[in-house]
Amino acid sequence: MQKQSFNVNLYAGEIVAWKGDTIVAGVFEGGEPQEALQQLGEGVSAEVERQLKAQWMLGKSGESLMIPLDSDSGLKANRLLLVGLGKPNRITLETWRAVGGRLMGLARKSAIKSYCLLLALDKCNGIKRSQAAAALTEGAFLGNYRFDHYRDTQEEPAGSLKKLSLAVDGKNENKWAKRLSRVEQIAQGVALARDLGNQPGNMLNPEVLANEAKKLGEAYGIKTTILAEKSLKRRGMNAILAVGQGSANPPRLITMEYRKGGDAPLLAVVGKAVTFDSGGISLKPGGKMEEMKFDMSGGGTVMGFMRAIAGMELPINVVGIIPAAENMPSGTAQRPGDIIKTAKGVFVEVINTDAEGRLVLADALHHAESFKPHTIIDLATLTGACVVALGQHACGLMGNNQDLLARLQQAGEKSGERAWPLPLFDSYQEQIKSLVADVRNVGDRAAGTITAACFLSRFVEKGRPWAHLDIAGTAWDTSGKRPHVPKGSVGFGVRLLCEFVKKPLE
Ligand code: BES
Ligand code: MN
Ligand code: ZN
Repeated sequence: MQKQSFNVNLYAGEIVAWKGDTIVAGVFEGGEPQEALQQLGEGVSAEVERQLKAQWMLGKSGESLMIPLDSDSGLKANRLLLVGLGKPNRITLETWRAVGGRLMGLARKSAIKSYCLLLALDKCNGIKRSQAAAALTEGAFLGNYRFDHYRDTQEEPAGSLKKLSLAVDGKNENKWAKRLSRVEQIAQGVALARDLGNQPGNMLNPEVLANEAKKLGEAYGIKTTILAEKSLKRRGMNAILAVGQGSANPPRLITMEYRKGGDAPLLAVVGKAVTFDSGGISLKPGGKMEEMKFDMSGGGTVMGFMRAIAGMELPINVVGIIPAAENMPSGTAQRPGDIIKTAKGVFVEVINTDAEGRLVLADALHHAESFKPHTIIDLATLTGACVVALGQHACGLMGNNQDLLARLQQAGEKSGERAWPLPLFDSYQEQIKSLVADVRNVGDRAAGTITAACFLSRFVEKGRPWAHLDIAGTAWDTSGKRPHVPKGSVGFGVRLLCEFVKKPLE
């Protein structure tokens, strides 16, 4: 895992004396180079000016220009790489993440072994320099990720970069260094979530996922418990069992307890892990069905998050709960019309076996309740309707506590993993009334994302702060449009949750 990582360090010396491949500086839209470029001396500045005047580069975001440095440049580096930053007043943390990611693509293409970034030397658009540096580094780690388990990479060597130096002015170095090491831990968590997400259904079934959780727990001192079929039966977790009963790969319920927070309040994080969702007897159409290997992304994110907080040794208490099952059609599969008695005792009429995520979550949320947590957050690739509503730009955000929702939305803005609220009015509950049971597992076509959340709300205690993130549209991205998000599993939610736990629960 993450074999292709690189070393990050701070460089407080003279830029002209930096020994390595490539120095990186920014150019704003309109052809204005960043001020820090002057540190490279008059000769280089003049050369850059010439090139910008000739409009070899306009400074738009996404652009780059490589300038070779010869021996009389006075620099030890071989090349200067100019990257477009766009309009200065449009720069956000996401801009820096994208630049970081883009640099990794360029390094790979041009076999660059080391970078020295001047980028964060200038304060820009109100973003603190340490924040910019952290976002750049985050983007670089995230953009460097590759999933190469199942192919020969000789022709396309992954991640050629060995060293990323960030030019700093010498002050606050310690603070920066701490921040960067946290960024690295978070990126490792994201990489784990992505690795799990990218694994296909035949390689990663519920049992394999549970074993991965065990390994993770052992490596990081996180108490990990696995409930297999017998224990699930004993505990009446018939909803998880029902989803898994059509598959040759039986379900598991994974619990991971990280307690480094003394008597701080407990956060429960629950993640749907349907390792493959065929739809079951309510079989999905064939188009893009292979993407349903990503249907365990919520669970992957919970594991990545546990990995990240343990790596950072955060003084908090978190329990991660992952219901893992494979949803398959077969002679033993559940049928539309079946009635399940869930662990909570609530009877569910299964109208559509493809609405399986909410079934596994029903038992998992009930299990989360047994820890008496202060707050519950669940993440799930729950509804296609959420993809229709919000696309890839934000996950759906619903819940029963305005303060919690506001905090998650803020954490989303800061982390670049956006969450956007949808209402959870009581009146929507009507749509999931059943003629024969307490509740049915689907509503009608209208407001599918919300009625799914309504269903989940039946399994959390009244008064317990709870939020549901529908990550159906954000969990994977096959476009490759964002430089810090390589094609495939995104690991969505790891960074959002890490941002969220920065503030104590209250
Ligand atoms: N895993 C799917 C949701 C999904 C669909 C995520 C497409 C990402 C992309 C979920 O289990 C599902 O099948 N939901 C159904 C619910 C319906 C039967 C009420 C859906 O959205 O079609
Ligand atoms: Mn489904
Ligand atoms: Zn599903």
